[in-house]
Amino acid sequence: MRLANTHEQLNDAIGAGARAVFVPTMGALHAGHEALIRRAHEIASDDHPVVVSVFVNPTQFDEASDFERYPRNMGDDARTCERLGVSALFAPEASEVYPDGAHGVAEALLPGVARSPALEDAARPGHFAGVYAVVRRLFELVSPGVAIFGEKDWQQLQVVRALVDREGMDVEIVGVETVREPGGVAMSSRNTHLSPEQRSMAGAVPKALMLAAAEPDPERAERAARGAMASAGLEVEYAAVRDAETLLAPSSGRSARVLVAARAGRTRLIDNAPWPGWRFDAKG
Ligand code: PAF
Repeated sequence: MRLANTHEQLNDAIGAGARAVFVPTMGALHAGHEALIRRAHEIASDDHPVVVSVFVNPTQFDEASDFERYPRNMGDDARTCERLGVSALFAPEASEVYPDGAHGVAEALLPGVARSPALEDAARPGHFAGVYAVVRRLFELVSPGVAIFGEKDWQQLQVVRALVDREGMDVEIVGVETVREPGGVAMSSRNTHLSPEQRSMAGAVPKALMLAAAEPDPERAERAARGAMASAGLEVEYAAVRDAETLLAPSSGRSARVLVAARAGRTRLIDNAPWPGWRFDAKG
């Protein structure tokens, strides 16, 4: 595996013109990222090497303290990429990603799916402006043929699909199902911040999704999800049943998702599942 910090070093590592199978991350790699890398290997070939990026993107954090305390562990990340047979680990400096200064995309230029749903867009103002800016720039630097994203950030996945469409980029976007801990909590780099007590509170999130998925009426489903999270002591931000693609109100005949966000202390938990009918069989 080659480590590249610049566009030139990346070209040197994988060959200029290679259309990588790209897994963009912010590092602190866990089993969820490993599933993305394994999926990348299923698609990769000699001309399409697997590239993983690690860049903690300052422009997508709406709280400076969240950016500061975001877990970083480059040594472990490099070992994980090596173990998983990644061709190149791209770890650029902010100056490489943002040569003209770090800022997100102007709100007015964002696609509707990043501005209208009143979910993550409202809960984290500026977040999708930063995600849009960094993904567009990483795609410019890496020139992938395929890029892999986790379904845990379902709203981000829809924003990235809209970005590729809007920017006319020739990149296929592939989503990978959320990897869960035995009790159902979605894998996330931020889980390392949870105390043992908060970790058990977090178990209410997948339970809330399941309760909602068992309820065929959207409003009742949302109430059930909110109730389950609140009674576990979580501070609920939203629980919403939405069209899976537009993230607006669901309509019959189109697929839908239930999406939730809540806080356990200072740590924000987000999750989502197909609605209705989703089940998770807890193990152990
Ligand atoms: O999902 C993430 O880890 C980040 O939002 C991404 C896509 C790498 C952009 O910084």
